[in-house]
Amino acid sequence: MKPFAPRPLTADTPPYVIAHRGISALAPENTIASFRLAAEIPGVDIIELDVRLTRDEEVIVLHDRTLQRTTTGNGAARGYTLAELKQFDAGSWFHPRFAEERIPTLREVLDVVGTRCWLDIEMKSDLFHREPEGLLERRVLETVKEAGCADRVMYSSFDHHLVANLKRIEPAATTAVIYRIYRDFGRLPSKLLRRAGASVFVCSKMDLNQAIIRDVREHNIPMYVYTLNSLTDVQNIMKIGVQGIISDEASAIVSVVKQS
Ligand code: G3P
Ligand code: CA
Repeated sequence: MKPFAPRPLTADTPPYVIAHRGISALAPENTIASFRLAAEIPGVDIIELDVRLTRDEEVIVLHDRTLQRTTTGNGAARGYTLAELKQFDAGSWFHPRFAEERIPTLREVLDVVGTRCWLDIEMKSDLFHREPEGLLERRVLETVKEAGCADRVMYSSFDHHLVANLKRIEPAATTAVIYRIYRDFGRLPSKLLRRAGASVFVCSKMDLNQAIIRDVREHNIPMYVYTLNSLTDVQNIMKIGVQGIISDEASAIVSVVKQS
């Protein structure tokens, strides 16, 4: 598989289709079932997933800091060892047929889909538990390297300190900053990217404005937008000329995006 490369704004190719937490409209988010589904669909370019650490510092794939929304567990995931977390059912909340799904480790996901799609690994930071400096970044990089996927990954985060740190540790890594309206309001993508040494700008469709669009065009910055689930949203965003469309419904939007 080719190495991942963020494409410049002027490319006359359609945007990347990015499966948000896998095909999370059809299978429980951030599970192997959801990632397998994404990898089976031609035209899905990138799988997005969220990572954090367990008590024994294993890298797991889980969006929330707590377990109750998407598993049968309770409380902060960081308070459990991997073996303890593996006891919880991570699929029944979505549909009983997914009762066998467990919270996957990053390594498990890379082993299943890392040769079939590129990955957008979003590092989650936890306000209630600040990780020791560099720990999450190092553990993620080690895992990716051990799985042999280093050239197929983009690392992203709302926490731009994590992005900058990861880039310092691994200068060859492709990184992205995710726009945080409450902290970044008024700061343009070019400035945020420069400060973190990143090359891709990720923005919510709700936070997009003319100043952002002008700035990414002026500086030729690849911009990925989330979360676009309706065909109308997808068609509208493509008129702006973005490079990535992040969707829970990647399988449903792929033909529209790729026919463009
Ligand atoms: O890729 C951006 C998007 O995943 C960020 O939001 O809350 O779905 O992780 P969230
Ligand atoms: Ca995410």
